[in-house]
Amino acid sequence: MLILGIETSCDETAAAVIQAENNQIEVKSNIISSQIDIHRQYGGVVPEVAAREHAVNIIPVVQSALQTAAGETPATEYVKQLDAIAVTAGPGLITSLIVGVETAKTLAFAWQIPLIGVNHIKSHFYANFINYDWRHLRLPAIALTVSGGHTSLMFITALNTLEKIGDTRDDAAGEAFDKAAQMLGLGYPGGPAIAAAAAKATEPINNKLPRPMLQNKDLDFSFSGLKTALLYELKKDKTWRDKIPAYAAEFQQAVIDVLIAKTIKAAKKHQAKTIFLAGGVSANRELREQLKKAVSKQLPQTDFQLPDLNYCTDNAAMVAAAACFQASQKQFSAWEELTADSNLEL
Ligand code: KG4
Ligand code: ZN
Repeated sequence: MLILGIETSCDETAAAVIQAENNQIEVKSNIISSQIDIHRQYGGVVPEVAAREHAVNIIPVVQSALQTAAGETPATEYVKQLDAIAVTAGPGLITSLIVGVETAKTLAFAWQIPLIGVNHIKSHFYANFINYDWRHLRLPAIALTVSGGHTSLMFITALNTLEKIGDTRDDAAGEAFDKAAQMLGLGYPGGPAIAAAAAKATEPINNKLPRPMLQNKDLDFSFSGLKTALLYELKKDKTWRDKIPAYAAEFQQAVIDVLIAKTIKAAKKHQAKTIFLAGGVSANRELREQLKKAVSKQLPQTDFQLPDLNYCTDNAAMVAAAACFQASQKQFSAWEELTADSNLEL
């Protein structure tokens, strides 16, 4: 099955072609036009600016994804081999989503190709299935999806059956990283900036910040208080500017401690045979390594799976990967009916 994926939920205009065969997904092309440099000057994503950039970039990005996958074949010929067009329908910034969704609908109508609307959080999870033979997958599984907009725990009983069992009550983990980075003067996007600063920490400030929600019985998260706690610590400490790496390391560790504890708790509760990590924050090296260690120590019988670094932050290969599972269940969308939905539920 050959699928063109399109992703415009936030600030990356992305298109990719994947081939799914014999329980394996191969990425033929993966084009991402990032707007980070444009939004950096504002310290975050400006929705109106993002939407304008998507509108300008979407066709060149789609063309480039098709031509890269097609090789010597003209892209206009290659599209005839496509089995489906997949697009992120939500959740995300509505004006950004609309550009991708309307483009995908236009192409599906013009080329008479089936259309598949994909949930963004689901697609982060399916990034794990790129270059991975899922015949070895042991279910049920737990997936921790951590991005700029979401912090979710999902319970997976079948390849296309995902149930949300935990969520953030306020800020998402990535959002917390972004805000903490802003406080520490580390710039945007905050996650990679915090990780880079933390790696330089020599004298750690251990356990100065709280580990929110650890004592709660449920599987929900809350990172807004952690952000405020950092603000108070910085206000109290007149010399904090000399200790930025240490504060970055402590903040990063506080987030990681909570994410790991809740994920292990969910896995124990649901007797998971596999734990997945996904989303933009899954690019964080410390989180990847520490969660892997925690699983092998506390749940040695449980498998641990995480996406390739190329497919952690927003991309369209993961959208096409998710669509491949939806297609196998005949979950197509009529182009007349598909609409962008900023609050799309799982
Ligand atoms: O999944 P993603 O690309 O977009 C959304 O769906 O939100 O995630 C972006 C988020 C941002 O908050 C960014 O700061 C965070 O992922 N992020 C990281 C790292 N790389 C990206 N957070 C921590 N460490 C990283 N290395
Ligand atoms: Zn995302």
